[in-house]
Amino acid sequence: MTAQPLIRVWQGDITTLGVDAIVNAANRTLLGGGGVDGAIHRAAGPGLLEECRKLGGCPTGQARITGGYNLPARHVIHTVGPVWQGGNASEDDLLASAYRSSLAIAHQHGLITIAFPAISTGIYGFPPDRAASIAVQTIRSHGAGLTVTLVAFDAQTASVLSGALG
Ligand code: AR6
Repeated sequence: MTAQPLIRVWQGDITTLGVDAIVNAANRTLLGGGGVDGAIHRAAGPGLLEECRKLGGCPTGQARITGGYNLPARHVIHTVGPVWQGGNASEDDLLASAYRSSLAIAHQHGLITIAFPAISTGIYGFPPDRAASIAVQTIRSHGAGLTVTLVAFDAQTASVLSGALG
């Protein structure tokens, strides 16, 4: 029998977490941006961008791994969530795929403790409650053996994530 993932909600700045990997809500260039992406690049330092340049981008719904550089986390898993376009452009599937691909990379690299931001719910405009239930369902189905922290930057997101966790 495989162990169910341990999932918890934590409110704060993901760049402070000393886990095996933090997940970055990146864009397809992987060359940085605003939101949590900007915060991760600032905290990691220029080595992260240098490694990202070599990756040649990442399609929506997929993920790539790099080192953590000056972060307390050992690795960054960069994933690209969908831009919300009203719900009929495969956004749900692409968001689930972003979580699934990140979890697959964690498994491949033998990582155990992973922290996710609320992918796509900021600049990309995905409805937070819908995103939270996709996150929890996908982690429950594909996160066996992992300890997963769902990171909320604000109290409202923390409450939505806790609600999805049930
Ligand atoms: N720690 C944890 N969560 C954070 C932090 C932080 N330091 N900063 C922001 N958040 P967003 P997206 C939360 O916009 O919607 C970038 O420009 C934020 O409050 O960062 O996937 C990329 O390059 C929200 O709940 O990501 C892409 O172009 C969540 O993280 C685009 O934004 C996600 O918000 C991706 O947009």
